[in-house]
Amino acid sequence: MLLDQCRRIWVVGASSGIGEALVKALGHPDRTLIISARNEEALNSLAASSAGPCIALPMDINKEEEVDNACRSLAEQPPIDMIILNAGTCEYMDSNRLDLALLERVMQTNFFSIVRLMDEALPMMRRALSQGISRPKLVVMSSSVTYQALPRAHAYGASKSALRYFTECLKADIQKEGIDVRLVSPGFVKTPLTDQNDFEMPFRVSAEDAALEIIKGLEGERFDISFPKKFTTYLKTLARLPDAWRFKILGKMSRHEQVDAPSQTHNNSGS
Ligand SMILES: NC(=O)c1ccc[n+]([C@@H]2O[C@H](COP(=O)([O-])OP(=O)(O)OC[C@H]3O[C@@H](n4cnc5c(N)ncnc54)[C@H](OP(=O)(O)O)[C@@H]3O)[C@@H](O)[C@H]2O)c1
Repeated sequence: MLLDQCRRIWVVGASSGIGEALVKALGHPDRTLIISARNEEALNSLAASSAGPCIALPMDINKEEEVDNACRSLAEQPPIDMIILNAGTCEYMDSNRLDLALLERVMQTNFFSIVRLMDEALPMMRRALSQGISRPKLVVMSSSVTYQALPRAHAYGASKSALRYFTECLKADIQKEGIDVRLVSPGFVKTPLTDQNDFEMPFRVSAEDAALEIIKGLEGERFDISFPKKFTTYLKTLARLPDAWRFKILGKMSRHEQVDAPSQTHNNSGS
């Protein structure tokens, strides 16, 4: 299905950054956008300024009851042509202390909650197919960090790599049903998420440009919509280098400072 023919699109993670830019770019008098995130105020103001019908459907993707309620309300409305699972979070980790609570938080939002949404999205896509909509789209937001592990991205990279793997498995199976599954793998995009970064972000693009790249990718046939090319090519090339070279380069990027081994207390009283 061409984007022009999409009459109903659900964007999850629409209140800021790439999601907000996508909503602005996709707004059209002949298309209904349904927009979700936790920040209800931001969703309402985005809906009010949209170029076409736009319905705010607030929910926290980590709260099962809120997701259930949102999906139940969508089941009572006309079918959806495209679902964009864009919601996500990022927290960096240090290797001095492997923060498992941080890992669980990031995995919960970026992987488990998105997978639960995929499970809700599939019956919606099948309903669209049964009502004559050809090739409804399921779009999943991953990251170019999945091409090559980068220092401090232990949790974020693992969550997005898990999502990539899961989405590929899903596509392999459900493509024969006529559901068009896509993955998006951006490099750095200027959004509230990256505004917290205190390191250089090569080839960073604006959220508006990212939205245009995603829309262009969705008009084409590629499974993995990745950009900007200079950055993704760099990461893919790095990933193909012999390990010794790769880790030398990665080591230069690392900020890790060697930690002294804990001093051992010897108890020799018994000897
Ligand atoms: N910016 C980059 O460089 C970059 C690169 C690669 C991939 N990505 C991915 O792109 C996606 C969008 O990120 P962004 O950069 O645009 O950051 P952002 O401005 O922080 O947007 C994140 C979106 O996800 C929503 N969200 C987060 N947690 C949620 C939750 N528990 N329930 C519902 N919605 C939730 C946020 O809304 P609320 O806070 O209102 O809930 C917001 O709408 C993320 O998946 C991110 O990993 C970003």
